[in-house]
Amino acid sequence: MNADNCYFWPHKDLLDVTQLSGEDTFHLLDLAARFQEINHRPIKKVPTLKGRTVVLFFVENSTRTRISFDIAAKRLSADTYALTKSGSSISKGESLKDTALTLQAMGPDVIVMRHASSGAAEYLAKLLTCSVINGGDGWHAHPTQVLLDCFSLRQAWEGRFTDHTLLILGDIAHSRVARSNVHLFTMLGVRVRLCAPRTLLPAGAEGWPVEVYSDIDQAVRGVDAIMCLRLQLERQQAGLLPDLAEYSRRFCLSAAHLRLAKPEVKVMHPGPLNRGLEISNDIADAPASLVLDQVSSGVATRMAILYLLATRNGGKTA
Ligand code: CP
Repeated sequence: MNADNCYFWPHKDLLDVTQLSGEDTFHLLDLAARFQEINHRPIKKVPTLKGRTVVLFFVENSTRTRISFDIAAKRLSADTYALTKSGSSISKGESLKDTALTLQAMGPDVIVMRHASSGAAEYLAKLLTCSVINGGDGWHAHPTQVLLDCFSLRQAWEGRFTDHTLLILGDIAHSRVARSNVHLFTMLGVRVRLCAPRTLLPAGAEGWPVEVYSDIDQAVRGVDAIMCLRLQLERQQAGLLPDLAEYSRRFCLSAAHLRLAKPEVKVMHPGPLNRGLEISNDIADAPASLVLDQVSSGVATRMAILYLLATRNGGKTA
């Protein structure tokens, strides 16, 4: 693979998709499409990042993001090292600053961090000279999830974003992917709708370039894709939802809702899923579901992100 062209990736870190231009985004998605081919080979490994080091610093739990970055880095022959909160000296009282400086002193090229506090990735990026990738920070942002969502829909829509409508459904207020998805998809020309109970819409959502609904039957009419969001009970204050059964009755995506959308509608969910609460069991596994395709797309997308950051000062391609 030869990823060299006259384009120059300008970013030391990836903290949020709001930092990306349209050119950055399409360059990254094109590169991910080329890396995806490697994931379909019998031997899924190239020497592109041989000798580079990636630290996976996950202070908050993760299945998809952490393993996906680990696989992505290893498929490019980078060395990876993982650190969690419970397995680190943070559990003995070491500060985030001292932990980060300690990790950097071992010479990594990239640190991927997930943290429960919004702004933690930006704090690290300002502190460190190595590249920092935000693997999700509090309610703020989860840029690699948004980019993989974009990669999946670009493939499903055969490269066209305009003339398509995306519905984002569920707990938008507590989601770190919803704001970033609205930003990226509207920038690419997609019409975006939001549907949630009033208490789960973020303050100011009426001012976003979106249509806002509280009735799912109206919101799903004629849409090309539906992105269900997890009900983030661990981040919610008491009283936002009086009754989970009532939430499920009004906002759980079902087969009846899909019949109101376009016939070729795609269903997405960043995971982890609460089956029966925000997405019905049959829809999560239906042919329309892109849920596992999103996971596969995550590996290719993160290969592209690691490549762009780890080689920004020059590097060889496979
Ligand atoms: N979508 C996502 O970030 O999943 P994990 O929390 O499992 O990484």
